Amino acid sequence: MVATRHGDGRKDAARRTADLRARIEEHNHRYYVLDDPIISDAAYDRLFQDLQALEREHPSLITPDSPTQRVGAKPAAEFNEVRHGVPMLSLENAFSEEELAAFDQRVRDRLGIERVAYAAEPKIDGLAVSLVYEDGRLARAATRGDGEVGEDVTLNIRTIRSIPLRLRGAGHPRILDLRGEVFILKKDFGSLNASQDAAQQKRFANPRNAAAGSLRQLDPAVTARRPLSFYAYGAGLLPEHAFCVSQTDLLARLRQWGLPVSPDADRVTGVDGCRRYHARAAARRTRLPYEIDGVVFKVDDFQEQTRLGFVSRAPRWAIAYKFPPEEAETRVLNIEVQVGRTGALTPVARLEPVQVGGVTVTNATLHNADELKRKNVRVGDTVIVRRAGDVIPEIVKVDPARRPRGAKVFRMPVRCPVCGSGTERIEGEAVIRCTGGLYCPAQCIQSILHFAGRRAMDIEGLGDKLVEQLYHARMVHNVADLYALSEDALAELERMGPKSAANLVAAMEKSKRTRLDRFLYALGIRDVGEATARELAAHFGDLDRIRRASQEELEAVQDIGPVVARHVRTFFHEPHNAQIIDRLLQAGIDWPRAARRAGHALAGKTFVLTGTLSGMTREEAGNRLRSLGAKVSGSVSKRTDFVVAGEDPGGKLAKARKLGVAVLDEQALMELLET
Ligand code: IVH
Repeated sequence: MVATRHGDGRKDAARRTADLRARIEEHNHRYYVLDDPIISDAAYDRLFQDLQALEREHPSLITPDSPTQRVGAKPAAEFNEVRHGVPMLSLENAFSEEELAAFDQRVRDRLGIERVAYAAEPKIDGLAVSLVYEDGRLARAATRGDGEVGEDVTLNIRTIRSIPLRLRGAGHPRILDLRGEVFILKKDFGSLNASQDAAQQKRFANPRNAAAGSLRQLDPAVTARRPLSFYAYGAGLLPEHAFCVSQTDLLARLRQWGLPVSPDADRVTGVDGCRRYHARAAARRTRLPYEIDGVVFKVDDFQEQTRLGFVSRAPRWAIAYKFPPEEAETRVLNIEVQVGRTGALTPVARLEPVQVGGVTVTNATLHNADELKRKNVRVGDTVIVRRAGDVIPEIVKVDPARRPRGAKVFRMPVRCPVCGSGTERIEGEAVIRCTGGLYCPAQCIQSILHFAGRRAMDIEGLGDKLVEQLYHARMVHNVADLYALSEDALAELERMGPKSAANLVAAMEKSKRTRLDRFLYALGIRDVGEATARELAAHFGDLDRIRRASQEELEAVQDIGPVVARHVRTFFHEPHNAQIIDRLLQAGIDWPRAARRAGHALAGKTFVLTGTLSGMTREEAGNRLRSLGAKVSGSVSKRTDFVVAGEDPGGKLAKARKLGVAVLDEQALMELLET
């Protein structure tokens, strides 16, 4: 299978490329979708290498849907927005047999029939995505977002091997807006956390978080290393896409087209059928390879679905019958108190490790002093712990009959367990706080971690172990010290080689180019979350203005009340903070300077970018537009103000013309950006 010495003729090469791709796709499908490989990994690798060699020799033959092109693109600065062609809805929930029966009754009443056929499916605990195939090719993938507008995660979705870049078989509609769940298998979750440990990165709390975190990586190469799985469960159906008649039919088609569909989906009739399916799923739950938090029943017939229609954000034809949260019994080994970034003291129970729904639980939060007192948890107690979806495991109740003799009531410390400063409890608040501020190592370390976090300055590789190490080695006392670290100094640290030191310095260097709102959020000002940081940045447009702003000026910002305004003012007026900010700016932290949102002509306008620009990437153009307060969307609609068309613009330009949306070329865009 090696290319001939003088290179193939182009035609011959094209034929061989097509042949290799078809074979690789076939083996991919067998391996990832059918779980039934017929060749060895080594043989597969050889096919893949042959294809790579051919493509190297004939670069013009490379197509975006070639199996070699799953990971290719460079990291993005942020995700573009995508408006879903058909909104992504949510499901109504039922928690009991009565609620299920009431649902079935409503369906029967509306349809005027005696027994309803339902498609029954496991409700996988992952995150919903929309995959749009155009002419059988994966064109775009987006997260659910708010249901109307999600984030463009196409490059990341392409790295998931079980998702075909090209549909198999024939008969697909020209546009297929497919819906499904991205998730992580229980077994993969274990190995993922093991590798997080090895890389001194934070563990993921549960498979759902791990899946969401992995899909929302700006660098597709990172996503490619994560073991993501996918099951398709539906389609955003428009009347003209009526290529099948029922949910069961749809799932069968999707399977034929090479998409992974849960093998546990079934068709049942009547409420009895639903009950039996639910009971079976509940019994098999812990043995299933993936986490489910319930089952979903959908009226099978599409015509009946259409007759039933929707209520607000959910279809009347479907319901999620949820399982009760999973619980297990274990013992409290110790009660410790953790100190967070804002000094809040949180009691945490250390537990004898116990499996709760496929995840090993070793800690449970006791929230605060009031909760602790109410539940009266003591060291040595036998307790029931509960894990529900995303939330941190918690202790449901104590079995007082099995309490060891002499177990003492736990009291919250009067001094901070980390720095020894006094603690205080503000009237009307449940939280007890350490008064040590940045003198307290815990608050200090947590604030550095917050600063480096993904949604803040996004310093890749700066995890909790490393920050603790840097702090205790007295190399870093505050966030400004980070940017003074040299490769040489870092390489001296235990478990840190020259390579990792260089990577970390590079990551810090990269983080210096940021956005004003991210920087504000990173500072960790009390009550300034991401949304407030965005409001502040958009309102003032400039850090100096924010630093100088008066109480009244701050209160004039949307969603900022007197309390938050005071926190912001106090923060910037504190000389220690002012000094740190000055040092950060001197270190070179910078963001695109923007006109004030209200002031710029493009503020509030919606742009769609299409085709290739010559002077910058679409990404960069999008960022510049956003920094002027404009919105950038992935699809053209009546609400679009401008479509910017580069080389080879494609369907969006046509749509813009059809809807009468203004079209700009690159030159015109540059002029607009410069005004
Ligand atoms: S159907 C209009 N089917 O549950 C119907 N959703 O609460 C929309 N989910 O966001 C969803 N498994 O992330 C459907 N078999 C399944 C599902 C499923 C998991 C998730 C999905 C959705 C959420 C709705």
